[in-house]
Amino acid sequence: MEIQIENQPYASVQADALVTYVFDQEHKFDGILGEIDRATDGRLSALASAGELTAKPLETVLLHFPGGLRAERLLVVGAGKPDKFAPLSDLRKIAGTALRFLKPRGVKKLAFLVREGEQGPRAAEAIVEGLIAGDFESDKYRSEKKNRAIETALLVGLEAGPGVADAVDHGRVIGESMNFARELINEPSNKLTPRMLAARAEAMAKEAGLGIEILDERKIAELKMGALIGVAQGSIEPPRVIVVRYTPAEPRPGAPVLGLVGKAVTFDTGGISIKPANNMEKMKYDMGGGATMLGAMRALAALKPSISVICVIPATENMPGGRAQKPGDVVVAMSGKTIEVINTDAEGRLILADAVFYARKLGCTHLIDAATLTGAIEVALANVHVGAFGAPREYLDRFLESAKAAGEKMWPMPIDDEYEEMIKSTIADIRNTGSGKGGGASTGAWFIKEFVDDTPWVHLDIASTCWIDEARPWLAKGPTGVALRSVVDFALKM
Ligand code: BES
Ligand code: ZN
Ligand code: ZN
Repeated sequence: MEIQIENQPYASVQADALVTYVFDQEHKFDGILGEIDRATDGRLSALASAGELTAKPLETVLLHFPGGLRAERLLVVGAGKPDKFAPLSDLRKIAGTALRFLKPRGVKKLAFLVREGEQGPRAAEAIVEGLIAGDFESDKYRSEKKNRAIETALLVGLEAGPGVADAVDHGRVIGESMNFARELINEPSNKLTPRMLAARAEAMAKEAGLGIEILDERKIAELKMGALIGVAQGSIEPPRVIVVRYTPAEPRPGAPVLGLVGKAVTFDTGGISIKPANNMEKMKYDMGGGATMLGAMRALAALKPSISVICVIPATENMPGGRAQKPGDVVVAMSGKTIEVINTDAEGRLILADAVFYARKLGCTHLIDAATLTGAIEVALANVHVGAFGAPREYLDRFLESAKAAGEKMWPMPIDDEYEEMIKSTIADIRNTGSGKGGGASTGAWFIKEFVDDTPWVHLDIASTCWIDEARPWLAKGPTGVALRSVVDFALKM
């Protein structure tokens, strides 16, 4: 999809469809909407009186051959009540909804008309992100593709200037990086083993101009990553640790180094503590955290933060093979801490233990990890918010500011000392599950914290938000790409 800024007045823009949006309680149709209403001989007012155009969020009303416009169709998307409108995330949703509405209707060229007060760079960025993310399809392995594509999207009504052009580029980078992550998340586990994920990361790094190093099973053994090895040994597929580096053109001595760590279990059967068959196919997305961080690195390579960023991705399968670790086994993590593996299905925290420790060894002064870590986070937050843990609190709060700026819903979750008690083991330093008395997402986070120590750290539990089972008007069902935008915003502001 080509995205262009169009400077012509909207009425003379030639397109298969002109898209704009309308707020609730706007039935007098002020400003641009008023103009369009008059140009179309009051057809918008007529639709509103008939109750067909109510402006409720993401409602779509399509007019063919609207008079007074050169475009062949006019699509009006509902924007809801103005006081509830979140300029960035709602614009993104409106743009995605419009694209997903028009694409199956054969539209090839759309023009998106921004409203008064939203003609600046941030709006442009949000619209571009929304269009690109909305364009994502999961049909890679379908023999008969629908072959419908929006070829061109024109942005109409934006203010002129370099700020807006840069914002369009920024939006494109973010949207495409999200789709890169979503493509990886969508891959079935036979098409994306740890080795194949490493190869995909290598190809991306090469294209983006990032440094990359792949640690194979020998190197992993040499580094004594016992917690990762314990998980990996149940599979015939060897594990990998993927290390991707971004270095700014002028590195400042003593500047912070941000570590991005992502869980990449390319398939989680649960291991010997095997999962039920129902829904197990979805455990191909247990590498969502890793894919998100790789996508973030792809974006950062283009957006060029002023600090160094090192991404560490532990990649493995979690299988119940003949050599698999068993409940009750004790493994020694790279840090030297001993872990009693109570449940082999709590494998994410095990591989993250070695990954966060290794990231610190590599010089990371600040950490963010993203992981599809617990079913418990779905109990707490459903698929609405990402669970955000972290310490110190000021560091977490700074991250949550970025989440807000990026328009991603995240909610602070507790990791008080009491949760530490719940992962005490009788025979080792710690155990990999809580005491079974609830708080599963927090005990999971505490486990990781044991290996993070005092390094400022944020942990994002994306188990319930990384994948949606039902399509949304602005997003296909399947992988969402959640957390990438916030991580990128945070790195750019650091
Ligand atoms: N990968 C799962 C978590 C998960 C569940 C992700 C649902 C996406 C959707 C993780 O490895 C896991 O199995 N966690 C266990 C931990 C428990 C055994 C302490 C869980 O949440 O049940
Ligand atoms: Zn598991
Ligand atoms: Zn898992």
